[in-house]
Amino acid sequence: MTSRVRWSAAIAGTVAVCGWVSAFGTAAADRPFPAAGAGAGAEGTTPRARTDSGGALSRNAAHPESAAAPESAVPPESAAPRETAAPPESAAPESGAAGEPAAPRRVDCAHAKCVALTFDDGPGPYTAKLLDILAARHVRATFFLVGTNARAYPKLVRRERAEGHVVANHSWDHADLRRRSAAGVRSELARTQRAIERAGGGTPTLMRPPYGSTNGTVASVARGLGLAQILWTVDPLDWKDRNTALVTKRVVRGARPGYIILSHDIHRTTVNAVPAIIARLKAKGYVFVTVPELFSGHLKPGHKYFKRPR
Ligand code: NI
Repeated sequence: MTSRVRWSAAIAGTVAVCGWVSAFGTAAADRPFPAAGAGAGAEGTTPRARTDSGGALSRNAAHPESAAAPESAVPPESAAPRETAAPPESAAPESGAAGEPAAPRRVDCAHAKCVALTFDDGPGPYTAKLLDILAARHVRATFFLVGTNARAYPKLVRRERAEGHVVANHSWDHADLRRRSAAGVRSELARTQRAIERAGGGTPTLMRPPYGSTNGTVASVARGLGLAQILWTVDPLDWKDRNTALVTKRVVRGARPGYIILSHDIHRTTVNAVPAIIARLKAKGYVFVTVPELFSGHLKPGHKYFKRPR
């Protein structure tokens, strides 16, 4: 019963976030991707994904959910009773306890064929299943959390950290940060930092601007908060095409050593794609690392990163 209550509330939260996001969707979708190279660590890189899977990957001008239909994000449990809309885990007694991070690993991405899986917008109803999938395969990933969801699901935040994943900042309510004042950007990011810390997710050192929408103000605020800006190299458009086989194909074909893969753990079709993505990339010799591991820890606050420099 308790779990049903929590998940239903989770769904309500997801819908609320996506619904809000869609208000900005069209404008964001039309906007070109921010110019590369503003960060010292991103010289010579471009945000464009490889196009060898039929061109879909090159159309990553917009960050994902921007055009997502909110209702398609609603899992079947949405038919659960209304009284379940109460805030989820926020009253859990263990809320606020600090999670212990898993032991660090030694991975040399200068030599290994590394790729970083990243999951945005959660935690949500499918995050626990994703964590099971990753744990069973000893794969670590990087999660960019929306602050409202971090506040709603502290147990999942804590679990992400405890299982060796990196917990990072994706703004409080999936804001288009380029439209905010410096104070507004600071509020979006600082509030999310606090929510993640309170949940036991540690203090993030990475952020990803929703829609990839960033500018000098965002960079300056991120720098002040000790946050590197992490963009991506491969966008399988999993928010748009809720098709497990298609998402799998796009990720596998788009991957190259040093690349950052964008995806969303709020979509069931994406979570269902992860086992095949891992199996097929492992078969090609890839090693799955977190974003800090991909850059051997050399990430500067405020700077933008799209992939590991060669
Ligand atoms: Ni997002």
